[in-house]
Amino acid sequence: MHLTREEEALLSGAEGRAAQKSMQILVALGEIYGAKRLVRVTSVQVSGVSYKNLGDAGVEFLNELAKDGRARVKTTMNPAGMSLTDWKSQGIGSAFAKKQLEVIDAYRRLGLEVTCTCTPYLAGNEPRFGDHIAWGESSAVVYANSVLGARTNREGGPSALAASLTGLTPLYGLHLDESRRPTLRVDIEAPLESPEDFSAMGYFVGKEVKDGIPFFTRVRSAGLEELKTLSAALASSGGVAMFHMEGVTPEAGAGAGETEAIRFTSRDLSETEAKLNDEGSPDFVSVGCPHCSLAEVKTIAELLKGKKVTKEFWVCCSREVKRLSDEAGYSRQVERSGAKFATDTCMVVAPIEELGYGIVATNSAKACHYLRNGGAKVRFMSLEDCVMEATGRN
Ligand code: F3S
Repeated sequence: MHLTREEEALLSGAEGRAAQKSMQILVALGEIYGAKRLVRVTSVQVSGVSYKNLGDAGVEFLNELAKDGRARVKTTMNPAGMSLTDWKSQGIGSAFAKKQLEVIDAYRRLGLEVTCTCTPYLAGNEPRFGDHIAWGESSAVVYANSVLGARTNREGGPSALAASLTGLTPLYGLHLDESRRPTLRVDIEAPLESPEDFSAMGYFVGKEVKDGIPFFTRVRSAGLEELKTLSAALASSGGVAMFHMEGVTPEAGAGAGETEAIRFTSRDLSETEAKLNDEGSPDFVSVGCPHCSLAEVKTIAELLKGKKVTKEFWVCCSREVKRLSDEAGYSRQVERSGAKFATDTCMVVAPIEELGYGIVATNSAKACHYLRNGGAKVRFMSLEDCVMEATGRN
């Protein structure tokens, strides 16, 4: 792989150990994937923030890098395992909290913005069309490639951080035009009437297309919330990093060409939704996977008006969306019901098993997938039904 003189200097250690280690990671990746050179990135989203996933080895790695490493481009970060300010009211133990705060401190010393959200594009990190970026949150990767038209591969925690500390990423995969073409046409025959329908559809298609690129046709309309949850679902049941949607996404113009085609029918929709439901009554309700938009918080506030929750109910969102909700008066309405905002975290990366919850109601197929992998039971339902579940239908 060709390196410029400046890149050679980074690799030689002339600009410190952290930059050198980062270059070693990027060069190794570039060689594995046949990249001819590196490319400058305009932003990075780092995953691997929850202590639940990082463990002590991860904390040690970060502390080592933080000795002389520094972010060279705008870098935001994924949710942590707890709210950084209200972790006690979430029931998080002090041993976990201490470790989690150590992780955040290392990232802060590295120059990352402490955003703790999987929707960086709703919290001030919104790349432009054609920008090369290095993002490590799979749902945000799909959203950035597909909806924003930015270019990123599905980065892991270390490779995203390496991109941040050098401002570079290997030029291969979805950074190149030829890798962004559809591999499977999906004709949507089912009426998709809510974000949850898009979530279930994405979950079905992710399994079919695996790490390919679906091209959706015949979708009547899709807004931010539908595209956000679709992105998350595609990346959880499959290894999808990008999709096209006729009439909706910016690179869908070229069409699907002669690719293979499948249909998504009403029966596929109802069967997928049924498979995302386990037996039993939920003892915990959580929405906001990916983190809620302001419009979603507004809807939740309206649904909760005059009601009290009878079960633990988390509304997961970024600090930025929470701040906007405070300003708009939605937060007061949500909190008056007894529901809690879970900023900085979510039901999947928080240690909910240690909090004693066993059956989680949620409106996200991605959350169902990962909660089940973690040993919990799940109920998949609409946002309205989640609120009803949490309020005991009072
Ligand atoms: Fe975000 Fe957690 Fe879902 S990180 S996409 S809310 S699993």
